[in-house]
Amino acid sequence: MVQDFFLFDIGDDMTETSVLSTRSILLIISGGIAAYKSLELIRLFRKTGTYVRVILTKGGEQFVTPLSVSALSEHPVYTDLWSLKDESEMGHIRLSREADLIIVAPASANLIAKMANGITDDLASTTLLASNKPIMISPAMNPEMWAKPSTQRNLEILKQDGIHIIAPNVGDMACGETGTGRMPEATELFKAAEDFFLNNQPLAAKTAIVTSGPTYEPIDPVRFIGNRSSGKQGHAIAAELAKQGVNVTLVTGPVSIPAPHGVKTIAIETAEDMKLAVTNALPADIFVGAAAVADWRVETPSVQKMKKRVGQTAPELKFTENPDILATVSTHPNRPSLVIGFAAETEDVLNYARAKLVKKGCDWIVANQVGKDANPVFGADDNQVTLITRTTTENWPSASKTDVAKMLVNKIVEDLKDEQQQLSRSTAK
Ligand code: C5P
Repeated sequence: MVQDFFLFDIGDDMTETSVLSTRSILLIISGGIAAYKSLELIRLFRKTGTYVRVILTKGGEQFVTPLSVSALSEHPVYTDLWSLKDESEMGHIRLSREADLIIVAPASANLIAKMANGITDDLASTTLLASNKPIMISPAMNPEMWAKPSTQRNLEILKQDGIHIIAPNVGDMACGETGTGRMPEATELFKAAEDFFLNNQPLAAKTAIVTSGPTYEPIDPVRFIGNRSSGKQGHAIAAELAKQGVNVTLVTGPVSIPAPHGVKTIAIETAEDMKLAVTNALPADIFVGAAAVADWRVETPSVQKMKKRVGQTAPELKFTENPDILATVSTHPNRPSLVIGFAAETEDVLNYARAKLVKKGCDWIVANQVGKDANPVFGADDNQVTLITRTTTENWPSASKTDVAKMLVNKIVEDLKDEQQQLSRSTAK
């Protein structure tokens, strides 16, 4: 059954940023007195902006209420395998597919035994068997139960199956006994989840600045010169970098799409403002200039709205060149170790793009043809690009802008892993 009590304001604004801010976690709470600590864990996740869905087993429901879980996670809580409503809204398969990590805390001896033997008699155990995502468990039980050969055998099986086990602490138990079996505190579990992503994300300690969208250059207080950029490609790259744990600053012109989750977003209008926001955000390890920056601006925008008067000829606008942000970043004393530009051309794409790479001093150019009916690019969901580095040219198949972003981020991961590559780049400059 879905229990919707999620319209509660828990009064905590998202305050902290963490590698978990961009992550989605499925928390399974099984039966055990330690379940109260899981409420605090949900609160810590939500404080950093982590997306949390919760499954509560029948045993778990004896210790914490669906109401508390739902209020803290700000989502319905899932309890029943056989609920038609749950299955139509969010079945056990989708619950596991949506998560980046599944955490079972507390993991009771019963649920551990079921997991080790593939038993699926409720929503939690079925979701765990159906999952294709990493699983972390925090066993919590009486010291005798923990020490039993059956429990240790089951844990050994789970270890061999690749399940991450957070060792229980030693100490006083709720039952009055002392020994091994206490669930670690919520802060320790939070840290274990953070460490999981940090250890599995090669870019976790890196920072990036991404520009996206158009710039608007004013003619007068109501008119501007802009372009057709939707920001979809730049925003997708910022989102994918954030998913790899990169600390991303997105500097975006006016767009109608939402800011990606877990990214620090700075909204600007003009090229000059974009340059200022970008240089203020330096130093960074990676720069991706996906914005369609206007090359020129009106030299002196009118302070008042320009009026159309009968008999007068149309006004002439005098333009001046905008700063080139990509070239500025490429030659900056705090130059990122990887600087990537974009080249949207209407003809002779590859030659123009190669020339641009040299002229602007960046490391890679993502080139594409624009203006053709078959590939409008601006505003479209798909993109067909060529990645040009100083030594290679790769034609990528047409793909969604999200997939292009994923492919580019995979390339960035490979590149930043290769320290030799970076060294030869820095000595070549
Ligand atoms: O010279 P062009 O505008 O074709 O170059 C495109 C690349 O340069 C893109 O990566 C774009 O974000 C960047 N650019 C810039 N500042 C400008 C013009 C372009 O950063 N003023």
